[in-house]
Amino acid sequence: MSETEQAGTTARTVTITDDETGKSITTPVGPDGTIPAAALRQVDPGLRVYDPAFLSTASCASSITYIDGDRGILRYRGYPVEQLAERSTYLEVAYLLLHGELPTPEQYEAWRHGVTVHTYVHENVKLFMQQFHYDAHPMGILVSTVAALSTFYPDAKQIFDDDVRMKQIVRLIAKMPTLAAFAHRYSVGMPFVYPDNSLDYTTNFLSMMWKVAEPRYDADPILSRALDVLFILHADHEQNCSTTAMRTIGSAHADPYSATAGAAAALYGPRHGGANEAVIHMLEHIGSVDAVPGYIEKVKRGELRLMGFGHRVYKNYDPRARIIKRTADEVFAVVGSNRLLDIALALEDVALSDDYFVERRLYPNVDFYSGLIYQAMGFPLEMFTVLFAIPRTAGWLAHWVELLGDAEQRIARPRQKYVGPDERSYVPLDERRPAPPGS
Ligand code: CMC
Repeated sequence: MSETEQAGTTARTVTITDDETGKSITTPVGPDGTIPAAALRQVDPGLRVYDPAFLSTASCASSITYIDGDRGILRYRGYPVEQLAERSTYLEVAYLLLHGELPTPEQYEAWRHGVTVHTYVHENVKLFMQQFHYDAHPMGILVSTVAALSTFYPDAKQIFDDDVRMKQIVRLIAKMPTLAAFAHRYSVGMPFVYPDNSLDYTTNFLSMMWKVAEPRYDADPILSRALDVLFILHADHEQNCSTTAMRTIGSAHADPYSATAGAAAALYGPRHGGANEAVIHMLEHIGSVDAVPGYIEKVKRGELRLMGFGHRVYKNYDPRARIIKRTADEVFAVVGSNRLLDIALALEDVALSDDYFVERRLYPNVDFYSGLIYQAMGFPLEMFTVLFAIPRTAGWLAHWVELLGDAEQRIARPRQKYVGPDERSYVPLDERRPAPPGS
């Protein structure tokens, strides 16, 4: 790596040399710290970067979300997430992610109206959902039903028609809460509650979740706002696993319903969308504040991991966790404190002052308190990932739109490092024997 002076500024470069052929390429390092992989091909077209799980690979250029993990910074389209959580609504943030700018009052009203009048689903979607087994996981129902929406809107295949594309985006953002609430109602054997379009986005979702016989469900405004803040915090997080799935499926020019279903399926995995559920299990397992020091010792001995702590990107306090902690205080002031919150607070206190966690830069992440809030609001554990999928839909779709407009993108098709057997001849079935043990 070298640095050369150019017109008074320091331009950083990287030189790649093939020691066998002596061929050498010097390539500039972008301000974002990336070098083009194509430089490698110039040295030798057969050279490949081996990068499992893309730890060192930037797969796209994106102007949607900025994260600085060392400094604990998260911004959507340049706006600090703290300001958005404080002053904005989820629906406004969804507009921002998708359009790149905050809406004017007129744009916001048109957007809000569009989303509101698309909250209903076709009656056949309802019938479709009613065919699942009685104990089907709501996330399984959601993934399948979102995929099924593509059969209801065949025009969605026209992905390069701007108007048609925006119509599907509005439909998806509008219908996600309806499908999520229906999935829950079905899994607990309750009749579906249709959307109430006089309510705002999040309050309407709570109405579809909890309404029983009252003519109108009025959610506690503090709880509704708390959920809206959680929706803002979960709306996007750049190239995470589900967004990468969205982009990969989108790169094949699949319709947005199929791509969103694929992204939601990735989110369903416990390594991605399921950590907040694991936090609740951990707190229940710990059982009391007195048991916290003993649990921390086990973590330090490497026997366990502290769920809701640590992050691949954030090596500082996850900015979302800071906001969520404040939201938790507001929610618990309404619903009353609980045993698990006391354990969580004690756990955080001990961990933040312990050398093991300080040296490894392990701080609470977004999941440490979000599950506690969901649980305090009455959501069953199986709904936690669904509650993540609703707001992340805006992020997935923003990345999908960005991908389709990016001339540098082609169908996603990574290369591999083949480590299987060399060529061998086919053996007829009756001549095959089991391989000797250890071979
Ligand atoms: N508890 C105890 N030790 C930990 C933890 C933890 N939660 N996380 C990391 N460490 C230790 C780890 O043992 C290792 O120590 P050593 O150097 O002695 O071997 C060191 O810290 C580095 O860990 P790592 O596994 O290399 O870190 P990673 O970046 O690969 O893993 C992580 C990140 C999130 C998978 C991990 O921190 C973890 O498993 N956390 C618990 C699960 C969790 O809360 N997941 C939700 C993440 S946020 C989701 C989102 O952003 O959407």
